[in-house]
Amino acid sequence: MKHKNLIDLEYMTKDELEQTIRLAGVIKQRPDVYKHACDGKIMATLFYEPSTRTQMSFQTAMMRLGGKTIGFDNPMNSSVAKGENLKDTIAVVSGYADIIAMRHPIEGSAKAASLYSDVPLINCGDGGHFHPTQTLTDVVTLSFEKGRLDNLKIGLCGDLLNGRTVHSLIKTMSHFEGNSFVLISTKELTVPDYIKDILNKSGCEYTEINNLKDAISDLDVLYMTRIQRERFATEEEYEKQKGVFVLDMDKLSLAKEDMIILHPLPRVDEITIEVDDDPRACYFKQAQYGMYGRMALIVLLLREEGSFLFDMPDPIESKEHRCPNPKCITNDPQQFYLPKNFYKKNGRVFCDYCDYEV
Ligand code: CP
Repeated sequence: MKHKNLIDLEYMTKDELEQTIRLAGVIKQRPDVYKHACDGKIMATLFYEPSTRTQMSFQTAMMRLGGKTIGFDNPMNSSVAKGENLKDTIAVVSGYADIIAMRHPIEGSAKAASLYSDVPLINCGDGGHFHPTQTLTDVVTLSFEKGRLDNLKIGLCGDLLNGRTVHSLIKTMSHFEGNSFVLISTKELTVPDYIKDILNKSGCEYTEINNLKDAISDLDVLYMTRIQRERFATEEEYEKQKGVFVLDMDKLSLAKEDMIILHPLPRVDEITIEVDDDPRACYFKQAQYGMYGRMALIVLLLREEGSFLFDMPDPIESKEHRCPNPKCITNDPQQFYLPKNFYKKNGRVFCDYCDYEV
């Protein structure tokens, strides 16, 4: 039986995404109507990596819908510490819970886990690969704050190479008409080529620059990101990048009055504290809106009727291929049992777990 999983927003149709955003808006307006929507249901939150927003917003989302939660936020307090593999943990937990929300540091782990789950599984971040519910949070925020998802000039600033939220947001927003992007980063942290390919194919205009001050005055949205220390190979490489882009009141004074500032959070030093008091600073509201987006998602994933099914292309198992991504779950010796699954797109072969080209 196929379940409704959310591995990436890419596998949601535009209609389904819009339906989720609409429902998030309804829940925000009338939370009382939904307070028993998940009575008797249990969500397991399995967080193999630290989180504040994603974990707690899923927990509170489930509780506000009338459901309950179980789980761990430190795998070392679970039998993972005794060497239990992902397959066994998921197989067991899916017998306890009605839905699973999982964050894991290894790329492709969400897809791998979904193979062994008897209940819907939501990817809450799989390494540097995908973080679909952050993108859902971002688009819900754009919809609530700007009233539209099209014809927006969106600046993205900071770590555009490692930032999975940046990649997902660009992919999602490139499906809406009239959006354009200003990519603001150092040359070492520009978006990967596959994102530029997506932009080129979509017909969305984009420019790449290395100066926030030069870009800010034209933007409708400024999406700031953290330089992610944990994704750098060495401390020296991180030190070279940190502190290059800082949004302060001086730069903000050049922006439009109705520009909004988003940030997936956590923040380190890329937005000064003074900016928090400016009405354009939407990042704390964004974190709250993410809860409404996640409430809508839980309702839709647990709904038995309807065609709301996040489906994936059928993979092909192949013993001839091996995923070349060293960070892929298929290259983790502990997960040796995983079928070597790939898929074909435009005559090219990709890993079914981490989407790396083989
Ligand atoms: N934005 C985000 O994913 O935050 P957490 O890591 O705190 O969940």
